[in-house]
Amino acid sequence: MKISYFWTSGTIITGWGSLGRIADEVKNLGATRILLVTDPVLLKTGLVDKVREALAPAGLETGLFSEVEPEPRLEVVAKCLQAVKDGGYDLLVAVGGGSSMDVAKASAVLVTNSGTIDDYIGVNLIPRPGLPVVAVPTTAGTGSEVTPIAILSDENEQLKKGVVSPYLLPRVAIVDPELTVTMPPHITAATGMDALTHAVEAYISVNATTITDSLALTAIKIISRYLRTAVANGEDREARENMAMASLLAGIAFANAGVGAVHALAYPLGAQFHVPHGVANAVLLPYVMESNLLGALPRFKEMALAMGERVEELSDRAAADKFIEAIKQLSTDVKIPLHLRELGVNAEAIPGMAEGAIKVTRLLANNPRKLTVDDIREIYERAF
Ligand SMILES: NC(=O)c1ccc[n+]([C@@H]2O[C@H](COP(=O)([O-])OP(=O)(O)OC[C@H]3O[C@@H](n4cnc5c(N)ncnc54)[C@H](O)[C@@H]3O)[C@@H](O)[C@H]2O)c1
Ligand SMILES: [Fe+2]
Repeated sequence: MKISYFWTSGTIITGWGSLGRIADEVKNLGATRILLVTDPVLLKTGLVDKVREALAPAGLETGLFSEVEPEPRLEVVAKCLQAVKDGGYDLLVAVGGGSSMDVAKASAVLVTNSGTIDDYIGVNLIPRPGLPVVAVPTTAGTGSEVTPIAILSDENEQLKKGVVSPYLLPRVAIVDPELTVTMPPHITAATGMDALTHAVEAYISVNATTITDSLALTAIKIISRYLRTAVANGEDREARENMAMASLLAGIAFANAGVGAVHALAYPLGAQFHVPHGVANAVLLPYVMESNLLGALPRFKEMALAMGERVEELSDRAAADKFIEAIKQLSTDVKIPLHLRELGVNAEAIPGMAEGAIKVTRLLANNPRKLTVDDIREIYERAF
């Protein structure tokens, strides 16, 4: 057994209505001035007001930065940092999906580290801890509330880039499923498939551990049982609670085991074609898994079982096929397309996307099958 580390956020608070605990948490962290980091859509949902109300008992000055965009560009971090400095804030509360949480996390470390976020793209390059971040997810997808990662879009290179450092881990994660109820079905579907991809990629990662395995398998089980209901009826409390927990578990799993080729191949789709992260992952997932199954066959049978497939009597190889069919069925049921061409991607872009994806060595290193640029091009072609 190789030596491994396990990292997660300082405190994780879960449960319906757990947002109500936020005032105590910000006081415990010694905050005096708080900046809420969110996006314009969430302002309209009323969720930001809910967070303000929950913060009121702390009696602290609270500012607002609401310029986060989906799949945020590096420049958005610079803007948020400016807002933090201008207002003299000493704690950031991120309210939103992965986009808002990642912008808050990245901005918080730049307050105490010089330069811009581009200087820290890569693994463990941030010298000092930043301001504390309290992460309040409103999607059940990215798990960013428990990951040491911020993902940002580089427009010039048309790539998504990752900053990875333990200093990006939020001090507190408040996972309140009530905040996910306003998600429309297509966002519920896309973010839920992102969480499934995290769990699957963590489970077959070459860096998986016994701790991450148990989290990842449980997440796969819960998502295959509850994602359809959450999409069909967003007000179903049991489905929302289960999806919030599954996203959290999958986040903890991949924060430690890593994700692999699905995410690496999804990045060019996000950067060049602005395909939402969860949709890009969901479309690629079955095709990358077809390529990966040779690298981790017995694990595919375990995942098929977790998804409720009757594969006990089947060979590992046949069970792996059942798993891939099951994820395609889940995608189809939640109305996510099965092909890249349905997302506005053109075939001529594939060689360039493969050149982009092969550069994501940080993630490809976790993948159970080693891929060349030709392999990646073939996967895109099959997914096309
Ligand atoms: N840091 C990490 O570990 C990590 C992991 C996976 C993905 N990501 C990144 O996270 C980003 C994607 O995050 P996401 O999928 O959560 O989506 P998002 O944050 O981009 O949000 C998508 C849309 O959903 C809306 N929305 C969010 N919650 C809502 C709610 N409760 N009600 C109504 N609307 C709501 C937002 O306003 C936005 O318009 C990508 O940039 C991706 O690369 C980061
Ligand atoms: Fe993801």
